Amino acid sequence: INPNNVEILISAVKPEQYPETGLKEIALAGRSNVGKSSFINTMIGRKSMARISSKPGKTQTLNFFNIDNQLVFVDVPGYGYAKVSKSERERWGKMIETYITTRESLACVIQLVDIRHNPTEDDRLMYDFLKHYDIPTIVIATKEDKIPKGKIQKHLKVIKQDLDMDPEDTLISYTALSRDKNPMIFNAIEKYL
Ligand code: GTP
Ligand code: MG
Repeated sequence: INPNNVEILISAVKPEQYPETGLKEIALAGRSNVGKSSFINTMIGRKSMARISSKPGKTQTLNFFNIDNQLVFVDVPGYGYAKVSKSERERWGKMIETYITTRESLACVIQLVDIRHNPTEDDRLMYDFLKHYDIPTIVIATKEDKIPKGKIQKHLKVIKQDLDMDPEDTLISYTALSRDKNPMIFNAIEKYL
């Protein structure tokens, strides 16, 4: 995979708009502001191909990125942000649920959690939802630059326990500030392609 060969396919809100590429898709999931769009940017070595913001609620549609004709990353709106209107939250929730439960080409979900904190109730609901639908999941504990290196393993252990992670699923600590772990993560993804 040459992650630098990237093309934006479409911003979709309904199934009729999902692109037909014949490629497997890897979708992001996680709380608003946890760093899903930043994760995609770092993985593809671009600063702002996926739009990011310090304010939660930036991503509002399903955004499809063709990565080197090998796979498609799907950026997704976050959950758990109270200031988004109730109707908007419901609309996003339905959009994500429809995508995850119906998309045949969905190979795996990358669920981002904040390594600094215990998973939230919403994080646990999302992980359980993915397991209910038998979706392989890679959990990325991101923003590891914000805690001392010596504490990373301890925080990972808590996250694995709190989510009650399936032993088949991978857990990796990460920071969008560095590309060092990109090969490791592409390896984990390739298992599902
Ligand atoms: P929504 O689109 O609202 O769901 O948010 P998102 O999950 O896509 O988050 P986004 O990538 O827009 O990042 C939110 C904020 O966190 C931005 O200010 C990013 O710069 C910052 N951020 C993301 N990842 C990291 C990281 O690994 N380390 C640090 N220090 N900041 C990060
Ligand atoms: Mg986003």
